[in-house]
Amino acid sequence: MATAASLSTPASRIFSLSSLSLRLRGLTSAAHSLSRSTTTSKKKKQQQQKQKHRVAVKEKRRTRSDREFDINRYGDSAFHIPVLLGEVIDVFPPSKPLRRFVDCTVGAAGHSSAIIEGHPEMQVYVGLDVDPVALDKARARINSALNDPSSTLKAYTFLENFRYIKSLLTDVDETLLDTGIDGILMDLGMSSMQVNDPQRGFSVLANGPLDMRMDPQASLKAEDILNSWPETEVGRILRDYGEESNWYSLQNKIVKARLQGGLHSTGELVDLIKSATPLSREGRQGWIKTATRVFQALRIAVNDELKTLEDSLYSCFDCLAPGGRLAVISFHSLEDRIVKQTFLDIINIKGGDGDAYMIEERERKQDLRKIRIDIDKDEMWVKQMLQGLRGTILTKRPITPSEEEEKLNTRCRSAKLRVIQKV
Ligand SMILES: C[S@@+](CC[C@H](N)C(=O)[O-])C[C@H]1O[C@@H](n2cnc3c(N)ncnc32)[C@H](O)[C@@H]1O
Repeated sequence: MATAASLSTPASRIFSLSSLSLRLRGLTSAAHSLSRSTTTSKKKKQQQQKQKHRVAVKEKRRTRSDREFDINRYGDSAFHIPVLLGEVIDVFPPSKPLRRFVDCTVGAAGHSSAIIEGHPEMQVYVGLDVDPVALDKARARINSALNDPSSTLKAYTFLENFRYIKSLLTDVDETLLDTGIDGILMDLGMSSMQVNDPQRGFSVLANGPLDMRMDPQASLKAEDILNSWPETEVGRILRDYGEESNWYSLQNKIVKARLQGGLHSTGELVDLIKSATPLSREGRQGWIKTATRVFQALRIAVNDELKTLEDSLYSCFDCLAPGGRLAVISFHSLEDRIVKQTFLDIINIKGGDGDAYMIEERERKQDLRKIRIDIDKDEMWVKQMLQGLRGTILTKRPITPSEEEEKLNTRCRSAKLRVIQKV
């Protein structure tokens, strides 16, 4: 039997040394091929990112608004600069009667006041917002837009979620839904007033409580999710709502932080994100991009934004009068995808470019032809439409801000405007 002593004879030592060197050589070549495959996958990732960037740039070139940005008239708001204001006015132009109008996200009333001023024929205006601070500002601004003594406009503002649009409009006037609304606007996302107030917890760059509620009366805050929701739910939110590739490592760090008492301020969350973001990732300031995605994910979850949006788009479309328009400004790809898909679903086009579903064909075709004639004549902003049975999507591609607007108001960079018109 071979013993430890017999293995230490010079011959066996030579044998074991040569097998060690063979094994070492094997390990070195494995390490080489590992580093080669890491470099290849890094290169592949970089190429994919470059390709994604090229597609985004091309898409942006195609969708940019060619309308001039009117800074003198609308850009000096003390509270919030309305995004794509000229483009929204084009959707509801003074040449088209707008007797009943609803602003689902009134904010500081930048869009609302300009639209009210442009439509002296307006009879009913309804403005909604879940944020009492915004609504106070909006009320003052709307009142001053109502200073025409000959105006018979009845203006109503509600501290309410737009998901209740149907019941709110019935409360205003039981016949309102029968007649229908001529124009509805949704300008999603946050107002500058919300982002600039650290106490609301929306800002990545200012320390404040982990709140993130649009509606200060709502019960769920961002810190409840971070400190007590199941681990897998935290991960799902970061992955699905933030589209954050480092979600698993962040999920683990967030759950670990619970052992030390949890996270209670945006500063603590940012520190955790910094510690989880490798320096090599997206440059030295990479953590800001990660933090932006994490904050977006939490905000969406706290305010149940995506489900609310989808349900409300159907409700808003139901509220429209024949020929009425629903315009939606979204600020990130998840919102925009919902707006795009829901509009397609409403007009019954499957998958985007397919043919409309055809029943009552002749009658419908006449209506659709009439819409096309109306629009072709005087609405230069309508480039390509998608026609369906119940409505027409007036923006086959969304409208994005002009370069000039983007330079003056960086917050509008990701904005996309989509419009649907009821048959
Ligand atoms: C981007 S701002 C609107 C700015 C406004 N268009 C203006 O010109 O001043 C979005 C507003 O929508 C409100 N909001 C967000 N979700 C809402 C919801 N589900 N129901 C009602 N208001 C909501 C926010 O509180 C915020 O004030």
